[in-house]
Amino acid sequence: MAVLVVGGAGYIGSHTALALKRRGYEAIIYDNLGAGHAELAPGFELIVGDISDASKLAPVLRRVNAVMHFAAHAYVGESVVNPRKYFQNNVLGGISLLNAVLDSKVRKFIFSSSCAVYGTPAKVPMSEDLPRVPVNPYGVTKLIFEQALEAYGPAYGLGYINLRYFNAAGADESGTIGEMHSPETHLIPSAFEAIRGQRPALDIFGDKYPTPDGTCVRDYIHVSDLAEAHVLALEYLAGGTSQAVNLGTGRGYSVREILSAIKRVTGREVSSRMAPPRAGDPAELVADPTRAQELLNWKAKRSLDEIVATAWKWDERVRPTPK
Ligand SMILES: NC(=O)c1ccc[n+]([C@@H]2O[C@H](COP(=O)([O-])OP(=O)(O)OC[C@H]3O[C@@H](n4cnc5c(N)ncnc54)[C@H](O)[C@@H]3O)[C@@H](O)[C@H]2O)c1
Repeated sequence: MAVLVVGGAGYIGSHTALALKRRGYEAIIYDNLGAGHAELAPGFELIVGDISDASKLAPVLRRVNAVMHFAAHAYVGESVVNPRKYFQNNVLGGISLLNAVLDSKVRKFIFSSSCAVYGTPAKVPMSEDLPRVPVNPYGVTKLIFEQALEAYGPAYGLGYINLRYFNAAGADESGTIGEMHSPETHLIPSAFEAIRGQRPALDIFGDKYPTPDGTCVRDYIHVSDLAEAHVLALEYLAGGTSQAVNLGTGRGYSVREILSAIKRVTGREVSSRMAPPRAGDPAELVADPTRAQELLNWKAKRSLDEIVATAWKWDERVRPTPK
């Protein structure tokens, strides 16, 4: 079986292409390299193209049985100041891709959604039936695409899974691929930049939240666990019905707990400083992963220390600490 990994030269898509290959699937990567990197697609067929380019997509869609859609802009803050960019790519571009899929024979579609569709949750841990009330334009674009799939699915016989990721982190154990965002906004690689003096200090956005140590709590999920869930979702779609599924560990860690884990694993202290809380940043986002376990037989296997260790190994390779 062949799978088109759209946005597969990015962080999560590249790990998923590798997980597909390890399970014996053929993965073809399609990416405009706007935020992706050809180095993250070693040994894969890489087609450089945009999701809005239907004529480029048509021939490759004839060669695959399923599509996984990772391609999107994914900076919450940027989506607030430049929503046009987000609606253009994540909604208009995304729907254009979806229509190209419908015009092909492919009827299996897996979408990279986000816990951002829930907004500020009324209860934690968060199950899939919570109301979807996103609090920023990025989350709105993810919700709109989910709703498009919910309409297209039954109307056109398209099987889909909306995978709602919590905080992806870590890198493949081989050390060959990992996170390469620019600018970097994710906590763990940002902390590594602070360790190396590539930023003055790590900003901690608020310490007066109603959490045990006052800093925000998030559910950090190893990117290889996420990637393996995509393979299981694909296999589930062979007979199962379309679904939304949370992908998280069910255990949250505060910003301070992450900094302690970094110290424990790397032996390095992260210099940090307090910064004002960010608007719309919920105190706690933690998945209830029950549905993923029941439907996909999936459970996150890798620990926080494995997340930090693999991320550090990768980061030291691509941005080594100056001697
Ligand atoms: N990283 C996380 O923690 C997280 C959490 C929740 C959801 N997500 C979602 O998962 C997906 C992947 O995230 P990521 O962290 O790997 O991001 P990423 O930026 O590393 O990867 C996205 C890839 O899509 C490509 N792309 C973007 N627009 C495109 C277009 N118009 N045409 C072709 N290719 C295009 C980029 O070049 C990039 O390679 C995104 O949809 C994101 O919204 C990520």
